[in-house]
Amino acid sequence: MSHKILILPGDGIGPEIVAEATRLLHALKDRFALAVELEEAAIGGAGYDAAGEPLPQATLDLAREADGVLLGAVGGPRYDQLPWEKRPERGLLAIRSQLELFANLRPAILYPQLASASALKPDIVGGLDLMILRELTGGAYFGQPRGIRTREDGVREGFNTLIYSEPEIERIARSGFEIAMKRGRRLCSVDKANVLEVSQLWREVVERVARDYPDVALSHMYVDNAAMQLVRAPKQFDVIVTENMFGDILSDAAAMLTGSIGMLPSASLDAQGKGLYEPIHGSAPDIAGQGMANPLATLLSVAMMLRYSLGEAAQADRVEAAVGRVLDQGQRTPDIWSEGCAKVGTREMGEAVVAALAD
Ligand code: NAD
Ligand code: IPM
Ligand code: MN
Repeated sequence: MSHKILILPGDGIGPEIVAEATRLLHALKDRFALAVELEEAAIGGAGYDAAGEPLPQATLDLAREADGVLLGAVGGPRYDQLPWEKRPERGLLAIRSQLELFANLRPAILYPQLASASALKPDIVGGLDLMILRELTGGAYFGQPRGIRTREDGVREGFNTLIYSEPEIERIARSGFEIAMKRGRRLCSVDKANVLEVSQLWREVVERVARDYPDVALSHMYVDNAAMQLVRAPKQFDVIVTENMFGDILSDAAAMLTGSIGMLPSASLDAQGKGLYEPIHGSAPDIAGQGMANPLATLLSVAMMLRYSLGEAAQADRVEAAVGRVLDQGQRTPDIWSEGCAKVGTREMGEAVVAALAD
């Protein structure tokens, strides 16, 4: 049976990087017998332009039917003045929420060839292999009430609600322990329990779930310290589990350890393992249309889709090996370029990965 994949290019560099993912999927189909059917739909600013909504109903329907969804990125200055409900980012949040994609896996792996592209010294990042598990459908991103209001004294105030229920904490904690069991069996839960009640409950529930996983060493860390430790000694971590906004911020920081934000893929999974796959970076308006964006995070997101949603582990290995080979050969987009390497654009990078696919 053929896997149905929905492609959502989105905005800015989205269409450029997703074109390379499409090229890769076609190559896997033609040369390595991957059974896939691709379909494309609009989301974000592109959804707003096409249908007046950042998440058109037709896109959501196709996403529900697909075996895997691949997204580029959404957002851009052209859409920043739209009312909140119409903003491109709202489309992304809505698809995550509608599909109940609560578990967001963001692996930060340093390819040894990129040690000199990292902002940190090679001995600090060499061999880095960290998994950040970000809760994706709760917290301040979705909590009610929210808004901007005018007080009786005429002063305006903006407000959001950082809220997590016990079942929401329990299911992401359980995912964290399950992932840790398959890796180094160390789980660090990151919170702000010294200040926030929501974090106190988070810690209590994580402790309770831990009793089912006696083989996993659980630790807790405050988010401010975690940000510092990620830059000081990132290899102390195996799996980090944290709430939505902390995970958003920490994963951008972790990306830089691997050389560039253009290197970090992600999987957003529901309870059944269905998922949406996307690079963690945004639509990069500053370089959009110039053909210089790094497509590797997107190609590595395809590998995650093959592994997690399509049961095609061998094809995933093939893609990851091809990326390694291209880095060995020395091709680099500008964000990961260093002395002695060949500077290439988005398309050349995508073509190089396709050319490096092997049995
Ligand atoms: P960004 O991630 O788009 O860009 C931050 C910096 O990283 C920029 O200098 C950009 O050029 C660079 N960069 C990002 N991806 C790159 C790549 N693949 N190759 C090379 N360089 C890359 O973040 P931002 O500038 O804060 O946000 C821009 C827009 O993207 C906003 O509208 C924001 O809301 C949106 N955004 C979307 C997503 C998403 O779709 N998942 C994620 C983050 C931001
Ligand atoms: C991400 C992005 C999104 C987030 C925005 C664009 C809604 O930053 O995927 O990391 O904050 O989750
Ligand atoms: Mn982000």
